[in-house]
Amino acid sequence: MPKPTALIVNFPSNPTAYLADLDFYREIVSFARRHEIWVMSDLAYAEIYFHDRPPPSLLQVPGAKEIAVEFTSLSKTYSMPGWRMGFAAGNPRLISALARMKSYLDYGAFTPIQVAATAALNGPQDCVAELRALYRERRDVLIRGLANAGWQVPSPEGSMFAWAPIPPRYASLGSLEFSKLLLERAKVAVSPGIGFGEHGEGFVRIALVENSHRLRQACRSIRAFLQAGSNQAEPALNTASV
Ligand SMILES: Cc1ncc(COP(=O)(O)O)c(C=O)c1O
Repeated sequence: MPKPTALIVNFPSNPTAYLADLDFYREIVSFARRHEIWVMSDLAYAEIYFHDRPPPSLLQVPGAKEIAVEFTSLSKTYSMPGWRMGFAAGNPRLISALARMKSYLDYGAFTPIQVAATAALNGPQDCVAELRALYRERRDVLIRGLANAGWQVPSPEGSMFAWAPIPPRYASLGSLEFSKLLLERAKVAVSPGIGFGEHGEGFVRIALVENSHRLRQACRSIRAFLQAGSNQAEPALNTASV
């Protein structure tokens, strides 16, 4: 097997909502140095955190800039998904390779998007705190609503997602069948964990992209679905969808 060239890390994580601490990044940097591999850190959810302090950057680790680059995006921080605007910082060799590659691939983003991005980055940052508060409120509504429905889901500390273990009664269905059942019976769409790789099995990802009202509606619907299920001997599998 060829030796890996680079290690990609992403915290706050999509899909698990896990936040890495600086000690974890220290280990990553020392591992990468030992094995002479690059590290690429995707910090897209840098500003979507629910504790009092932002998540650390991998580049805070001494020596990280010699082996790493970190990417961020305006998609989450300023609600600009699809606008394809972000930036990278870190190792000069990697950054110049990125600049060269991009110079072959495109001529830069549409000018009004560049102007909007400049305004977002240089303007007042209250909107970032407002967005953070909005996602925190949605998180609380979702986690409380699911607990009321009898589904205990760990409260995420960051990102736009809750990473929910499948309720034990439905665990044997696997994440894909459970997600289909939730869609058919509760009319709620979640992402099956298996879609993120084999280690995602046993979980579903629930996104905080709907407003609090819609999240409450979804939780009520999930509650009715789970209650109906608990009155039956076996989880109700729709054979047509198996
Ligand atoms: C971890 C992570 N990185 C990057 C992106 C995408 O960022 P962009 O819109 O800048 O391509 C997403 C969006 O879903 C994401 O979840």
